[in-house]
Amino acid sequence: MEIRDLTPEDLDDVLDLRKRSFGLLSPDDREKWRKAVVPTLAEGRYLGMFDGARLTAAARLRQFTQWWHGRPQPMAGIAGVTVSPEDRGRGLGTRLMRAVIERGAELGDAVSVLFPATTALYRGVGYEHAGAQHNVRLSGEVLRGIRPSGQVKLRRMGPADAAEVVSVLHRVHGAARSSGPVCWDERTWSLWLAEEDDFLYLADDGLAVYRWKGDELEVDTIAAASADTLRALWALVGSASTVAPQVVAAVAPDDPVLWLLPERTREQVKQVRWMFRVLDVAAAVERRGYPSTAACSAVVTVDDPIRGGGTWRLEISGGSGSATPVPDGDGVKLSVNGFSALYAGIPVQTLRLSGLISGDDRYDEALEAAFAARPYTLDYF
Ligand SMILES: CC(C)(COP(=O)(O)OP(=O)(O)OC[C@H]1O[C@@H](n2cnc3c(N)ncnc32)[C@H](O)[C@@H]1OP(=O)(O)O)[C@@H](O)C(=O)NCCC(=O)NCCS
Repeated sequence: MEIRDLTPEDLDDVLDLRKRSFGLLSPDDREKWRKAVVPTLAEGRYLGMFDGARLTAAARLRQFTQWWHGRPQPMAGIAGVTVSPEDRGRGLGTRLMRAVIERGAELGDAVSVLFPATTALYRGVGYEHAGAQHNVRLSGEVLRGIRPSGQVKLRRMGPADAAEVVSVLHRVHGAARSSGPVCWDERTWSLWLAEEDDFLYLADDGLAVYRWKGDELEVDTIAAASADTLRALWALVGSASTVAPQVVAAVAPDDPVLWLLPERTREQVKQVRWMFRVLDVAAAVERRGYPSTAACSAVVTVDDPIRGGGTWRLEISGGSGSATPVPDGDGVKLSVNGFSALYAGIPVQTLRLSGLISGDDRYDEALEAAFAARPYTLDYF
């Protein structure tokens, strides 16, 4: 079987594979999918596996920015992993994912995220559970209790605002020292911002994306860098409470809206879990942000059968980190899954008890403080 870049001529076969894997797509959704996918083909972001001329599997590498402790870096978001039904259970998914990981690194991404439909396939190639999209169910009436100051100017936005949206998200996630949130590239934002049935609002330092879902409202994104804007955006959603008694919103686990609510007792949160993988240890460590108070100098050996692995001295101080190759020695031993989970802020004792870290435990507390995070995304892909 050959793995190669997909071309526009392959897209009918990919759509057939998607139908057999994920269900039917309306003609309108097929067209939207084509429009989003075609420009990425020449960038090497869609791989197919072929048995002669027959497409047997496909996977897409989406181009994202992801923040880790407030610092943005390019991230490969893996989506549309599909093996044709008649070829499943023979290792094709694994082979394709190995190629996807190599491709992500070639494209310059040091980290990668995917929302798994099943764990074993992805864990087997180095991804580990890290964060989630947290969808909380809120009462529209309670949201209406959030009073806006009246000082914030909100305007409706459209495709021409894509660059401004990206810029606002950079400000918001930098200021919040966020870990995990992602931002689509401008091209994708301009497609999303053309969605006629979405309600899209922009302020100088915030934005809201929400829509009807039956008789409820679904909030994709409310992000703001100031308290006034945050109130204004949530009040907008709460103002629909006469018709939308319930709102389902993607929020951060410590989202400030949860502290604005006048009432909070039992909460229904649906977590859609995502898995994370470091593709390039040195680049990922350098591109991450860290708490400015954290200091750590630790030797870690990462076992990565696909990307090679190795031993590095991690130096973290003043909010920045570096990883310098050193000879193998006594230090912390991690599978690439373990290192990925550590990078994503999973506590070290969790990793030790689940067998993802072994070896020298002298650095445990320092590593945990340096990589501390509660990663989440507002987006699903
Ligand atoms: C999921 C999918 C891509 C797996 O492809 P595949 O070629 O059958 O996978 P592999 O043969 O390489 O299997 C790799 C591992 O995943 C496990 N696996 C595969 N399909 C599975 C399933 N449906 N449920 C649970 N585990 C599964 C295998 O048992 C194997 O684990 P092991 O190494 O511990 O034995 C394929 O079944 C598919 O296209 N499904 C429909 C679409 C889908 O769910 N895509 C994933 C979106 S995230």
